[in-house]
Amino acid sequence: MNKDRLNDRTPHIFIVGLGIMNLKHITVEAMDVIKRSGHILFVDSGFGVESFFNSHCEKVTNLASCYKKGRSRREAYNEMASLVLDSALKKAPVCFAVYGHPNIFVYPTYLIKSLAPFFDLNVKILPGISAFDTIITDLGIDPGFHGFQMYDSTDVLIRKRPLLNDVPCLLWQPEVTGIVEYSVRNDLMQNLIKLQGHLLRFYPKDHEISLIRSSSFPLIDPVRTNFQISQFAETVFKTKWAGSIYIPPVKVRDIKDFEFAESMLRKSSNKNEELDLASIISQHSGKAHFLKDFLSAAECDEILKCFDKIEAKPGKVNTDQLKPEVRKSPVRFLRNGNFPELHWLFQKVNKIAYEFNKAYLNFPFKGLQSNSFQLTEYSSGGFYSWHQDFSERKKRSISISIQLEPPESYSGGSLELKTHNGIIKAPKDRGTLIVFTSNTDHRVTPVSKGIRRSLVGWYLFES
Ligand SMILES: C[S@@+](CC[C@H](N)C(=O)[O-])C[C@H]1O[C@@H](n2cnc3c(N)ncnc32)[C@H](O)[C@@H]1O
Repeated sequence: MNKDRLNDRTPHIFIVGLGIMNLKHITVEAMDVIKRSGHILFVDSGFGVESFFNSHCEKVTNLASCYKKGRSRREAYNEMASLVLDSALKKAPVCFAVYGHPNIFVYPTYLIKSLAPFFDLNVKILPGISAFDTIITDLGIDPGFHGFQMYDSTDVLIRKRPLLNDVPCLLWQPEVTGIVEYSVRNDLMQNLIKLQGHLLRFYPKDHEISLIRSSSFPLIDPVRTNFQISQFAETVFKTKWAGSIYIPPVKVRDIKDFEFAESMLRKSSNKNEELDLASIISQHSGKAHFLKDFLSAAECDEILKCFDKIEAKPGKVNTDQLKPEVRKSPVRFLRNGNFPELHWLFQKVNKIAYEFNKAYLNFPFKGLQSNSFQLTEYSSGGFYSWHQDFSERKKRSISISIQLEPPESYSGGSLELKTHNGIIKAPKDRGTLIVFTSNTDHRVTPVSKGIRRSLVGWYLFES
C-alpha cells in the first residue's frame, strides 16, 4: 500500500467533459487539467480533437480503438477503464476526457470511479456541457415550468418505466435500443417496435415528437425531425445519426393546491403598493374568453342531476334585491363539499379563473364567492337585463358561466357581453365556458321556448 497516496487527496485521475460542440465547449477548469496531465485518454470523435490534445500533452490515446464491430460495448468500456487506471498507476495525474458531460450516459466514468479506490487512486470529475444542455437550448424549454424526465431508451424498455405525459421527456440512445454489441443492428427494428408499443400506453398515437441532434460543429445547424409517435420505430431505424427523442407533454398538470397557489400570488404582489381596485378593474372591463368543449356532455349531465336536489330561490340582482323588471330566473347554490362527486368541477373552473387572473388582472383574489356556484334556470319568459357582476359591495373580479343545455333545446336565452369588440353573443354550444371580467356589461335575452340552464361563478378580489 502506498502511504503517500492515501494521505494525498490530489487527484490521480481527472475525468473531464469536453462538451458537445467540437472543442468550443471546453471549460477553463478542464483546460487547466488538460495542460497539466501526463497522459490524456479520450473518447470524442470530433474533428481535430486528437491534434488539439497533441498540442497540449505529450502522450495522447484515442480510446475509440476499444470499440470493435460485433464486440460488446460493455467490453469496450471495461478496456477503457483499465487503460485509464493502468496509466494513472504508472504516472499520475492523467486525464480521461469524454464527449459531453462525463456523468451523463458514460459508463467508463462509473467503472473508473468504482475501481479507483481499490488501487488507492483519487478521482476528480469535472462537469462539461451535455447534450441535455444543448437540447433544452435548441428546444427553448425550461425544466422549471413542467419538470423534466429523461431515460435511456433500453432502460425504459426493460423496466417498462411509467412515463408522465404531462412532463417533457427525453429518451437517450434510441439508436441502440436493446443492442449490446457495437455497430450491430440486427434486432434494432423489433426492439424499437416494442418500445413504440410501450410509449403508446402513455401518449396518443398522433402525438408529435422529435428526433433531435444538437449541433456538434460551429458551422452545422441542429437537426430536428418531427413525426407522430406511431412512426417512432420506423423513423429511428432509418436515421443514420445518433440523436435523442424529445416527447413534449400532452397536457399541463392541474394545480391541486389552489389555495396555496393563490396565497403565493398574493405574496408576490407588492404589499407597499396601494391596491387601487377601481382603477385596475376599470382598465380590464370587457375582457372575455370562450372555451368550447370545456365540459363534455356527460359532465353537463352530471351537473344537471343536482338541480332537482337543491332548493330553488328567486334570482336577485347584485344589490341582493329582488327586481323582477331586471331579472327573472330562479337560482340554486351548489356549494363545494355538498356534492363530493362534483369536486372536480370546482378544481377545473378555479384553475381557469386563476389563469385568467394571472393573464389579465394579476390582482390578489380570494377565490370563489361563498365557495359555491350558482345554477341558473331561464324558462320561457326568463331573462336578466344588462348588468355587471362587480359592485362596490360585491368586489367580484372574474365571472364565469357555463352552457349546460344543448342549444337546440331552447330558443332565445343568449348570453351577450359588451366587449371592446362591441356586443358579442357567447357561443351556445353545450359545455362552453365563458370567462370575463366582472365589470363587463352582460345580459341574458328572454327565453321564448324551452329551458336554458347554466352554471355561474364569481371570483372575489382580496380587498
Ligand atoms: C453515450 S451518450 C453520451 C452523452 C454525453 N456524455 C452527454 O453528456 O451528452 C450518447 C447519446 O447522447 C445523446 N447525444 C449525444 N450527442 C447528441 C447531440 N448532439 N444531440 C442530441 N443528442 C445527443 C444521444 O442520445 C446519444 O445516443
